[in-house]
Amino acid sequence: MTSEPAIRVLDDPDTTSRAAAEAITDALRAAVAARGRADWATTGGSTPIGIYRALIESPLRDLVPWESVHTWWGDDRFVPRTDPLSNVLPFDEVLAPGVPAAREHAHPIAMDEALAGGHDTTWAASRYDAELQHGGLEVGGSGFPILDVVLVGIGGDGHVLSVFPGSPLLEEYAWAIGVPAPTHIEPHVARVSLNPGILAAARLPMVVAHGAGKAAILASVLEGTLDVQRWPAQVARRAGATWFLDRAAASDLSA
Ligand code: 6PG
Repeated sequence: MTSEPAIRVLDDPDTTSRAAAEAITDALRAAVAARGRADWATTGGSTPIGIYRALIESPLRDLVPWESVHTWWGDDRFVPRTDPLSNVLPFDEVLAPGVPAAREHAHPIAMDEALAGGHDTTWAASRYDAELQHGGLEVGGSGFPILDVVLVGIGGDGHVLSVFPGSPLLEEYAWAIGVPAPTHIEPHVARVSLNPGILAAARLPMVVAHGAGKAAILASVLEGTLDVQRWPAQVARRAGATWFLDRAAASDLSA
């Protein structure tokens, strides 16, 4: 059996987003059928927008039992929920208006409350950690909760979630952690991130990337030596994970 992930190469960003949305739909349906609920973590950046658009269109919108689906966030920036940099804004603007039931069990990181109360990202992270701990999630042998799907994009430096190269988060045990503003990559805003152990523990880790700008880093992450400190996205380079890439993003892969 291979220890490598499945890599699906699609023609363009639209077909890639649609394929990812179909896989999310299948995984959420299967989880609800098996356990009565589904839990997934969504992402920020530009990646989720096309996926949300596919999820709110027929037939997918009628296939997901959203009233039984809990939506978590893999990471978020320390900004108000209405800020264009917020990782919750695409959910509020695209997914939730299209499928209102998705609002029922949405668990955004409490950035608004933290900002209003003069707290920092450590406060928001420990609140999220507690929300996850009390969220009724199954905990795996690694000590991390098992989400049905963890959807992530990949940064140009090989980061995933808000886990940047050289990050101490790779050695942490907390489920959610405050991250100082990165100086090497935009936006230069502090974050809260799930522990990468939660990506590793997911039933379906899912990486989605489009565009020639991601080609070089994808070749390093998928075909380079394993070194998660250098390329944190390699946490999702494992059997059971699926990478959805468009042709441009996959153009530097050898296979
Ligand atoms: C963040 C993200 C980050 C993102 C990647 C890919 O808050 O910065 O969650 O990990 O997913 O940088 O970003 P794009 O989807 O914009 O390519």
